[in-house]
Amino acid sequence: MQQDIDQLRRQAEDDLAAVTTEQMLEEFRIKYLARKGLIAVLFDRLKTVESSQKPLMGRLLNELRGTTNALFREKQESFQRRPSQATTLDLTLPGRTKFLGTKHPLTQTMDEIKAIFVSMGFGIADGPEIEDDYHNFEALNFPPDHPARDTQDTFFLSKKALLRTHTSPVQIRVMENNRPPVRVICPGKVFRNEAVSSRSLATFHQIEGLYVDKGVTFSDLKGTLISFIKQFYGSGLKYKFRPTFFPFTEPSADIYITCFICNGKGCKMCKHGGWLEILGCGMVDPNVFKFVGYDPEVYTGFAFGMGIERIAALRFGVDDIRLFYENDIRFLNQFMT
Ligand code: DAH
Repeated sequence: MQQDIDQLRRQAEDDLAAVTTEQMLEEFRIKYLARKGLIAVLFDRLKTVESSQKPLMGRLLNELRGTTNALFREKQESFQRRPSQATTLDLTLPGRTKFLGTKHPLTQTMDEIKAIFVSMGFGIADGPEIEDDYHNFEALNFPPDHPARDTQDTFFLSKKALLRTHTSPVQIRVMENNRPPVRVICPGKVFRNEAVSSRSLATFHQIEGLYVDKGVTFSDLKGTLISFIKQFYGSGLKYKFRPTFFPFTEPSADIYITCFICNGKGCKMCKHGGWLEILGCGMVDPNVFKFVGYDPEVYTGFAFGMGIERIAALRFGVDDIRLFYENDIRFLNQFMT
């Protein structure tokens, strides 16, 4: 009998050590400590023990029950202190997806344009959004009271300070601070006193470009800008240069590409003309060089400017540029990269 008691103690200790869940602990309790458990069975056998042995066996059995009970409770408490994983961690739950933001379509467009010009050796320059009349107009060859100023409805902050109407003043600041050769693009925000509509905004973005050195010609302008168009829009596209007027360039041109929505047949996007205007450009006017102290007899250069909202709208087939500023996640999700 004593042997059986010892063996049962060892067995109970081993079993309890292997218990890792509350369910297993309950099974342990039923096996050893319940009314018909293994310890109770040994108690029943006490009746058959010789009466001289009974007090000793009774004491040993009571000890066995006491220690098993104590060990059982200890284990039970350890489960209560550390809530079981089964109740806190449901491995069948779907994971929580982290919402990763993406670049705004206007930023994507600007980044791509910047990368193309940087690969051609252009640097990136920056200028103030609050400008003075001199840099925004005068040094760009818009004389005071000249009607050309009417093409850019301006937010004036005071008589001389204004919100820049284009990124061209950065050209002036770059030339004031650097000697040729100069080769930069200037991305940034610009402001015009325009009624907001599906085609125009009061705040929008432009990228300006400027290349000045000895012997820069209109062929350089064409080569550079055609290379840009092919990289940005794809090489199969048709393009054309059409003469136009800007005060700060002479000669000046607008560049058009075949409408890629209708392939030149005519649609709403190209106002049924089959062509889309994508940028303005020209050879820097000698008067501008005089304002910044470059000798127009020695240096020549070309400049260009493009509106980012318009380029992005054409590119992504967006027919209302206000959508770019509404922060509607259903709209922005379409430009996930
Ligand atoms: N500044 C012009 C505008 O806002 C765009 C432009 C046209 C910039 C021709 C240039 C250029 O540098 O050469 O409409």
